[in-house]
Amino acid sequence: MGPVQGPVSWQAMAKKLKIGLIGTGGIAQGCHIPGYKSIPDDCEIVWACDVNPETAKKVADEHGIPNVTHDYHDILKDKDVDAVSVTTPNKYHKQPTIDALNAGKHVLCEKPLAMNADEAKAMCRAAKDSGKILQVALQNRFSGTGRFMREYIDNGHMGDIYYARAQALRRRGVPAWGVFIDKEQQGGGPLIDIGVHILDYTLFLMGYPKPVSASGKTWDTLGKDKSLFNFWGDYDRDKFTVEDMAVGFIRFDNGAVVVLESSFMANIEREVFRTQLFGTKAGAEVRVWGDDPIKIYTEVDRQLLDVTPVNIPEVKSSHTAEVQAFVKAIQNNEPSPVPGENGLVLNAVFDALYKSSQTGKDEPIDMTF
Ligand SMILES: NC(=O)c1ccc[n+]([C@@H]2O[C@H](COP(=O)([O-])OP(=O)(O)OC[C@H]3O[C@@H](n4cnc5c(N)ncnc54)[C@H](O)[C@@H]3O)[C@@H](O)[C@H]2O)c1
Repeated sequence: MGPVQGPVSWQAMAKKLKIGLIGTGGIAQGCHIPGYKSIPDDCEIVWACDVNPETAKKVADEHGIPNVTHDYHDILKDKDVDAVSVTTPNKYHKQPTIDALNAGKHVLCEKPLAMNADEAKAMCRAAKDSGKILQVALQNRFSGTGRFMREYIDNGHMGDIYYARAQALRRRGVPAWGVFIDKEQQGGGPLIDIGVHILDYTLFLMGYPKPVSASGKTWDTLGKDKSLFNFWGDYDRDKFTVEDMAVGFIRFDNGAVVVLESSFMANIEREVFRTQLFGTKAGAEVRVWGDDPIKIYTEVDRQLLDVTPVNIPEVKSSHTAEVQAFVKAIQNNEPSPVPGENGLVLNAVFDALYKSSQTGKDEPIDMTF
């Protein structure tokens, strides 16, 4: 009789994937590379690409990545490559993603998926046509609070969530590096850069209802003011072409409403990154991280209870968890837990909010592609 086989994990059975990096800047180095390197039996990074060849070379040397290029098409021509991370500035998400999908590679694309909904639609269409995975890097839902809240909600304890307040507010937090203040390369300011995270987190907990219309307003007075302090250093105020703050009122097809607030600069006490959920059975105030991040407000037998969960799962890095989920989806031939369509929803909402700020009207949202 042969040896008795023990249980085999998905890792042990699966093919080891070959990965290419398109863009080797901050997020690639800080999050994607550690994510892939955390599961060396399941994947290896074989290409580093950056339009800045020195950056790509430095990253490749540091991490033992065998191939370096300044042109991502070189990666797409490599038949052995299974998947790529697109970790370029927002303006350069669309083309590498579509080209990679058309070349038969799976894609993990950084957030926001695109500059606008038209681009996001083209990317989702390419994913559908190619049958490959397009995942958006929205890591916060992989956090301990995301996992705890999702299970709590799925178990019916909140009832129907009919309203949420989502806030990603900084007091003086304009990123002074990269292209974050350049509308032409980013598509927008705090709304598209950090509002994207808290809106995704909120919609994830609400079961991603379909948005139908949105009304919004943006401002840029503080961001352009040369006299103001910024925690992250000085930046050229004359080049500040994005909003410093945006607010929005978003309606969904199930009757729910989300109010979204997002800022790089605002005269508030301190940074806020949280969502408040209003359900028919309970409400919850959730900060994505920090001490005692979740408070639940409910009623049992006519007693009002404030509940503080104590066994929230510990997740060391939600970025790593997100990369691992991408690899697992490819290996198991399963849909991604963060499909491109979710990124399209977010881009479509932002388009409506930016447009509404100009027209002063509620703007319809259409996500057909
Ligand atoms: N998920 C998160 O929490 C998070 C955090 C930070 C940034 N991001 C996202 O990651 C993306 C990149 O941000 P970053 O902070 O790493 O910026 P970065 O400027 O540090 O890095 C971007 C890199 O892409 C390179 N690049 C530009 N165009 C390219 C092209 N066509 N081909 C190959 N390389 C190209 C640049 O030379 C640069 O090295 C943005 O979309 C941003 O929104 C996400």
